[in-house]
Amino acid sequence: MPDPAIRVIDVTKLYDGRAVLDRICLDVLQGETLAILGGSGSGKSTMLRLMIGNIPYDGGDIVGLGRSLASMTESELADYRRSIGVLFQSGALFNSMTVADNVALPLREHTDLPEETIDIMVKIKLELVGLREHADKMPAQLSGGMKKRAGLARAIALDPKILFYDEPSAGLDPVTSAEIDQLIIDLNHKLGVTSVVVTHEMDSAFRIADRMVLLDRGKFIISGTPQQLKDSTDPLVRQFVYGLTEGPLTDRRRSGTYESDLLGDYI
Ligand SMILES: Nc1ncnc2c1ncn2[C@@H]1O[C@H](COP(=O)(O)OP(=O)(O)OP(=O)(O)O)[C@@H](O)[C@H]1O
Ligand SMILES: [Mg+2]
Repeated sequence: MPDPAIRVIDVTKLYDGRAVLDRICLDVLQGETLAILGGSGSGKSTMLRLMIGNIPYDGGDIVGLGRSLASMTESELADYRRSIGVLFQSGALFNSMTVADNVALPLREHTDLPEETIDIMVKIKLELVGLREHADKMPAQLSGGMKKRAGLARAIALDPKILFYDEPSAGLDPVTSAEIDQLIIDLNHKLGVTSVVVTHEMDSAFRIADRMVLLDRGKFIISGTPQQLKDSTDPLVRQFVYGLTEGPLTDRRRSGTYESDLLGDYI
């Protein structure tokens, strides 16, 4: 069994003295797609930002690709960040650049490759995400799904070992969302990368994940295969796994009573 790509060991993250992540343990196994699940504010994005070395943790340790992130120097951390790819919640494209230039950016910044080579690499990445014929468009000319694809092409520009996605299907219609899910699965297979997907969309999570972790208000609740989560008898897990596939829960979350609806006696 190879070492996990990432080990999260007893990690705590404090904001204003409050633990938004409380002694979390989880492993991301090499080559798998791990879904990090939880309601709004449960700490999913914070977990992702810790794993990509974007923010420091306050307790425990994170071992990424064999090294403790806390023990890395700035330049080692920069190396680590270059070996991972991130698709942020918004896609985060530069609006003043074409799609092709957005994808070329990491290659221009982090390699000495000649422009002709970069050109070819950009075409390959855009082809992988199905956007090759849109290379010369500006981000404003793209649909939401195409923006995600473009962000993804940029995230894989430097051939990352691990790909992180924060809510890849947020704001997309169900069909586009399913297409992005398929793309995540395809990239995982074609590139052989390890994938970490933060989501609260259960349909999406069940399509893509080999394993899942459920967080709730900063606490680890359960991890396992999709089937193990479906079979769980824990009322919180059941409510989350089955509840989120229904529409009204989303509305309740917006109205602010989501937590009490979701957690019931747990509060
Ligand atoms: N920079 C910050 N400063 C202070 N509090 C923060 C900061 N970032 C996150 N938090 C708090 O940490 C908690 C977890 O936030 P996080 O963004 O990780 O949740 P999430 O699970 O990704 O939610 P969502 O599904 O809405 O994206 C929230 O209570 C949030 O208010
Ligand atoms: Mg989030």
